[in-house]
Amino acid sequence: MNRSELEAVAAAMVARDKGLLAADESTGTIKKRFDQIHVESTEEQRRTYRELLFTTPGIAQWISGVIMFDETIRQKTRDGVPFPQYLTKLGIVPGIKVDEGAKPLAQFPGETITEGLDGLRERLIDYHRLGARFAKWRAVIDIGEGIPSRFAIEANAHALARYAALCQEQDIVPIVEPEVLMDGAHTLERCEQVTDAVLSTVFDQLAAHRIYLEGMILKPNMVIAGKKSPVRSSPEQVATATIRCLKRHVPAAVPGIAFLSGGQTPAEATTHLSLMNRSKGLPWQLSFSYGRALQDAALAAWSGKSANFSAGQKEFHKWARLNGMARSGGFQPGMEQQAA
Ligand code: 13P
Repeated sequence: MNRSELEAVAAAMVARDKGLLAADESTGTIKKRFDQIHVESTEEQRRTYRELLFTTPGIAQWISGVIMFDETIRQKTRDGVPFPQYLTKLGIVPGIKVDEGAKPLAQFPGETITEGLDGLRERLIDYHRLGARFAKWRAVIDIGEGIPSRFAIEANAHALARYAALCQEQDIVPIVEPEVLMDGAHTLERCEQVTDAVLSTVFDQLAAHRIYLEGMILKPNMVIAGKKSPVRSSPEQVATATIRCLKRHVPAAVPGIAFLSGGQTPAEATTHLSLMNRSKGLPWQLSFSYGRALQDAALAAWSGKSANFSAGQKEFHKWARLNGMARSGGFQPGMEQQAA
């Protein structure tokens, strides 16, 4: 493990005014996104769409790294440049999703365990050779009646820590992503309780697995009411509760926290990030690692038509820039109406 290399990559990932683009949708997930815009999910359409994102003019000003899927990291631009090389040249760090998805946890109805540890060392060696310098593993915790169980939280935290240790062994910065879903009808208070328990267990396991905290990035959910909850959370409540929760559990040695958007609208996710970045004296960088919040508008503008390629890029650039502004608290709701 090369500690200074891990630190340098982690610092670049959460550099000022920038954040990560999560473009690591699995073949199943990207099909769902394409279905919404009535585009057939062929390998060439997926390549074209990822090329649209990665070749957006000026994007390196706001995007520090890109998380890719196994298929994507092996694809090339129209001009034949492998995507990881293309991104590296722009100063954007290439990353790779290495988990194999959340599968039903046997004996625990309604709960999942993320798979993908078998053979992971060999896959990491291969991804490093392809140019990846960071990786992502997503654990999923759902809130419902009687769930999450303590066992599911512990099993998922254990797997996250085993993944993180293998990454660091191979000089790859692990993004540790324990996502508490916002799909349920739960209150913000319940989300905070569960996120408290999850982060506390995750950092216990990371310590037990001897993770070098300076060489990792945390990718958590924000603390927010479930989408089906009748009580909406105000942006101030989300920002306050999220920071309170992170302060309790995330050691100051961790260089950065990059949030997932998790089904918030792009404007909501950007507003929350901006508010949190107005807090003074936080020990870590607060950044973004959004999938949907950065891509929704771009996907809709593109709609699979080559004539709309640059319209799609314009939308991606707009949301990357607004989130770049949110990194220093400079985004205000409504700015998205004027921004080009
Ligand atoms: P969303 O921002 O769409 O939640 O995706 C981020 C991600 O990478 C989830 O693993």
